[in-house]
Amino acid sequence: MANFISIQHAIEKGSGRVGVRGWVHRERGSNKRKFIVLRDSSNIIQCVLKRESFEKQWKDIDRILVESSVEIFGQISKDGRAVTGYEIKADKINIIGFAEDFPINKDLNEKLLGDRRHLWLRSRKMNSMLKIRSNVLFGLHEIMRKKGFVEVEAPSFSGTTSEGGSETFEVKYFGKKAYLTQSWQFYAENIINSVEKAYAIAPSFRAEKSKTPWHVTEFWHFEVEGAWMDLEEDMRVAEECVEYVIKKILNENEKELEILGADVLMLKKVKVPFKRITYKQAIGKLKEKGYKIKYGEEFGAQEERELAKYYGNGFVFVTNYPLEILKFYHGEDLKSPGTGTNFNLLAPKIGEMIDGSQREPNLEKIKIRLKKAKIDLGKADWYLDSRRYGSVPHSGFGLGVGRFVAWICGLDNIRDAIPFPRTPNRVSP
Ligand code: 4AD
Ligand code: MG
Repeated sequence: MANFISIQHAIEKGSGRVGVRGWVHRERGSNKRKFIVLRDSSNIIQCVLKRESFEKQWKDIDRILVESSVEIFGQISKDGRAVTGYEIKADKINIIGFAEDFPINKDLNEKLLGDRRHLWLRSRKMNSMLKIRSNVLFGLHEIMRKKGFVEVEAPSFSGTTSEGGSETFEVKYFGKKAYLTQSWQFYAENIINSVEKAYAIAPSFRAEKSKTPWHVTEFWHFEVEGAWMDLEEDMRVAEECVEYVIKKILNENEKELEILGADVLMLKKVKVPFKRITYKQAIGKLKEKGYKIKYGEEFGAQEERELAKYYGNGFVFVTNYPLEILKFYHGEDLKSPGTGTNFNLLAPKIGEMIDGSQREPNLEKIKIRLKKAKIDLGKADWYLDSRRYGSVPHSGFGLGVGRFVAWICGLDNIRDAIPFPRTPNRVSP
């Protein structure tokens, strides 16, 4: 069994004989020489093959196209002209798999990249995004465990809807109807009466037709719920998660951030506590800036981005939205009647990244809210058992992982932060 090392490791070694393997990132050649830029998961490196050393294999070597898989052995040395500063002078090559003409070359239009998503994942940018995304998820798990939260999952099939009827995917379920979950929250509010502090990272599904750069129909949702937690503590947990993960990525994914061209200076500026303003203050600020929004209306995406930009070009918490535009489960702020104990965390460029609240713990009050909103919980009535048997003050939030990853990587679109994004127009590959 030959000894292979990663391309990155080979570059760090810098001299001597090495064996590397991967896919052909670029190739060019003449009758005498073949240049291969080889790619593995760790990096790329230029390899040169001289015909005189490969006379018997030359016909095959000549057939090597981009994305062929090969094993290459040879002497590595510094070379200022080579793409990553080093070159391998090959003395042995094993061609593992020839490639057909690779369908992704220069014309990188959105439709083509979507249709060939499974191939586009091989690009260096996608590779970097995938590594950062993996580390974001790892970081979220780490900080929650450190804070003593218990990971408890909920099903993706549900007999009931949670966030809203029209945005639910209905599926056939053995002659009955089931729905793809929109949020873990209804389960969580019951789970916390057992483990007190809970979280989950799982897919949520939304049958939303919105074609903004920040909406998909399936997204990974980081959700947190804590018994005895009030709104301020909820926001503290949320901002600490954001700060922790960003620091982790800055420390551990420097190379990937560079490949993606992410705004490292902006990431370095992220520091808790984030600015907190009320919905009312936000409306005032927007009016000052010439927006025609009135108290009681929902923010548009542009307005959310304006707010995030205005407040120090960092994250901003907006709290106390009018109850009329909130869900029935959001609590009422008794210090500011008519407004909710809720928040949205807004991020520059993206707008809403986290949505959270202190929940309404009182059964009678919730029933009034349900009636007002003309909602019949029907089969979801089990949800209210959390209020029937020892209800406690509690809070939670949900963060869209795709939006967070896109923000960290400096991407213009949530789709670029998801390996196989799902939108109204795309369910494959
Ligand atoms: O604002 P949302 O709908 O809130 C909830 O689902 C609450 N039940 C969360 C909770 O309190 N446990 O969704 C939460 C977050 C949003 O702030 C956004 O980041 C993301 O999920 N999100 C989406 N991301 C991508 N595509 C979509 N269609 C999204 N809808 C929400
Ligand atoms: Mg929301």
